[in-house]
Amino acid sequence: MTAKELRSKYLEFFQAKGHVAISSASLLPENDPTVLFTTAGMHPLVPYLLGESHPAGKRLVNAQKCIRTDDIDEVGDKTHHTFFEMMGNWSLGDYFKKEAILYSWEFLTSPNYLGLDKERLAVSVFAGDSDAPFDSEAYEIWAEIFKANNLPLSRIAKLPKKNNWWGPAGLTGPCGPDTEIFYWTDFSKTAPLSFNDDHESWVEIWNNVFMEYNKQSDGTYEPLLQKNVDTGLGLERTLATINGMDDNYESELFAPLISKIEILSGKSYQAGVDVKKAMRIIADHVKAATFISADDKSIKPANTDQGYVLRRLIRRALRYGRQLGIVKINWLAEIAQEVINIYGDFYLELKRNQAFIISSLNEEEEKFTRTLEKGMLEFEKLANSDISGRDAFNLYQSYGFPWEMTAELARERGLQVDQASFEQELKKHQDLSRTAAAGKFKGGLADNSEETTKLHTAAHLLLAALRQVLGEHVVQKGSNITAERLRFDFSHPEKMTTEQISAVEKLVNDAIAADLPITCEELSLTEAKNRGAMGVFASKYDERVKVYTAAPVENDKPNLDQAFSQEICGGPHVERTGVLGTFKISKEGSSSAGIRRIKGILE
Ligand code: ALA
Repeated sequence: MTAKELRSKYLEFFQAKGHVAISSASLLPENDPTVLFTTAGMHPLVPYLLGESHPAGKRLVNAQKCIRTDDIDEVGDKTHHTFFEMMGNWSLGDYFKKEAILYSWEFLTSPNYLGLDKERLAVSVFAGDSDAPFDSEAYEIWAEIFKANNLPLSRIAKLPKKNNWWGPAGLTGPCGPDTEIFYWTDFSKTAPLSFNDDHESWVEIWNNVFMEYNKQSDGTYEPLLQKNVDTGLGLERTLATINGMDDNYESELFAPLISKIEILSGKSYQAGVDVKKAMRIIADHVKAATFISADDKSIKPANTDQGYVLRRLIRRALRYGRQLGIVKINWLAEIAQEVINIYGDFYLELKRNQAFIISSLNEEEEKFTRTLEKGMLEFEKLANSDISGRDAFNLYQSYGFPWEMTAELARERGLQVDQASFEQELKKHQDLSRTAAAGKFKGGLADNSEETTKLHTAAHLLLAALRQVLGEHVVQKGSNITAERLRFDFSHPEKMTTEQISAVEKLVNDAIAADLPITCEELSLTEAKNRGAMGVFASKYDERVKVYTAAPVENDKPNLDQAFSQEICGGPHVERTGVLGTFKISKEGSSSAGIRRIKGILE
């Protein structure tokens, strides 16, 4: 089965069960400063899990692009990835445990769908603790299915929170007990009678989360207003599994990348464990870097936030490339091109932003090569004796010279490096930056505070005003809102003049003075587009979306001829612009090539 067939089968199955297919959201969460990337299909749906009504209804299904960096040290084995696709189905206060489990079982085992071998399946359920009880309901549903299929109940494991609890995606929010489904992937052997969490041949393919709690900032769990189902079926793992492979990197989603790396390095994937690991890391990291770069927000490698993760992925891939002996210039882009070939028909942004992806990777490759050259010179100055942890840290901190390079070069010369004291220095530094980053978690739209809601509405007015003053080429490239200020990135080729800044402020403040009502309507994407709403239209489906309009209201409807702003958006917003106070642009500067960044406040 191909990846394309697998995605379609999944969508079709759940559409037949009354679910509406929605597009993958961006990898970069909108207006949520608490996380850098979309880490799960549920992430863009948090407001709806908390009770807000979703324009597409209560049963949703999709395939969502995800980036997870917390498993990065495991990347290099057969099944972990930084970028992956999560197929998911959701019940927003509609069906619950029984239907969710029965749907999973049917999809996995029915010959009309995946037809997996039942004898190779095992499941786990939440064992219970002081926060929530043993999930006896999920256990009983599985027990019935297992009995009916003559499967041993010893393949239903009861496990603690560490294994069978999911969420929240950030620090607070929806979460709950889950039931996970595993497949025995050692195809040369029959599956053992019981499930063992530590055995690498039991691969988790699907997680069904019963989101019935809301984790509070004080660490307690409140019951949610509605009981939801959030599921995640890993596309890469499932694809490998149904095709009888135990190594995801052999499937069509990776094989062309591995072949390319074999050609570039002149080595075979089968040459040994170290070679295999290096090739997997390169394939994984370049794929993730390609998808991050493909976003319309034009993220580039940088020293902060998403740009920092992007930079690390690219540089780590380059390092492993060096280890494999790849010497060709601009080789990363050749692998990125393969990523675009594999996914371009499904994720259209890859083709749309192809030129940007390639030039951004090449640029970073050149920068890192220069960094390495500089670092090598500095290393040479130290290389007449063993290297202290502090020196290794300075190489890293001041020259961007990776620890692994220092260790590798030292090994070649028969020198010692004090790894323990390097790690101490690093930890000291990280603790400092973590304290600084903790400030970031305060506020944000995730908390829906009054201040952030106001600034969010101000951001809509700002975009409309920028388009009036600078022209229609201006589109939003990113935004980040805390309780204190908004930050707004948009496309524009040059610095704004003082006059332009004043003109934009005046337009926004006039819209505030007019005390325009903000109306929320649910429309199809086509309707929204046709009436000139701003937003992202690169969707495969004509989905229902929410459009927020700042305009005078006549007969209960916004008068579109006099609309100041119309945007597709999940909200929330203030009811009338009059409550915003006075808007001020506190800073205007460059964000990256062709993109300006404004910081704004409300007084
Ligand atoms: N949100 C769940 C997960 O990521 C489905 O595993």
